[in-house]
Amino acid sequence: MLVAIWAQDENNLIGKNGRLPWHLPEDLHRFKFLTRYNTLVMGRKTYEGMGKKALSKRQTIVLTKDVNYNSCDQNVLVMNSVEKVLKYAKQVEDGKIVYIAGGAHIYKIFEPYFDRLLRTLIHYSFIGDAYFPVFDYSAFKKVKTQVGIKNDKNPYDYEFETFIRQD
Ligand SMILES: NC(=O)c1ccc[n+]([C@@H]2O[C@H](COP(=O)([O-])OP(=O)(O)OC[C@H]3O[C@@H](n4cnc5c(N)ncnc54)[C@H](OP(=O)(O)O)[C@@H]3O)[C@@H](O)[C@H]2O)c1
Repeated sequence: MLVAIWAQDENNLIGKNGRLPWHLPEDLHRFKFLTRYNTLVMGRKTYEGMGKKALSKRQTIVLTKDVNYNSCDQNVLVMNSVEKVLKYAKQVEDGKIVYIAGGAHIYKIFEPYFDRLLRTLIHYSFIGDAYFPVFDYSAFKKVKTQVGIKNDKNPYDYEFETFIRQD
């Protein structure tokens, strides 16, 4: 199963200077929890924004057109085409999820293939430079909205939304 996972503000903003525009530990915690023991696919720029450091306990795939790309991590798989990722996704064990984890370019090119969307919607307007792409939500149905915990460390109103593709 191919699942898009991302956080955005009210204006579809997702990034700033190669990183996230906000600090929202509850969302990061959820991201880590959900993706653990599954696969994360990300664009080369997102990977480099993380300092080329893959999270443990999950398979990371980095997408780049550079066939000689050095991920600096022997546990990271480098792939050079969408087709390679789709082929990989077809052969993962039943019940395992391939999460498409951004950034903007990567969400756009995988849009036709998503089975589910996991969106964290932050009700705030941040400053940044990377946006979630124009997206056809009519192909999906929102099936769940869960309000996120707001506290000193997570000082925004936000919610976790789940969409599934409608047949
Ligand atoms: N809020 C969130 O949930 C979230 C999640 C992830 C990322 N982000 C943010 O998004 C921003 C980065 O997004 P971005 O769009 O600039 O970069 P990106 O999507 O992370 O990476 C783009 C790169 O992916 C590679 N690529 C794209 N299409 C490809 C294809 N068809 N085949 C092979 N490789 C391909 C290219 O690498 P090469 O140039 O090496 O060929 C391209 O430059 C950062 O600010 C990051 O923090 C936010």
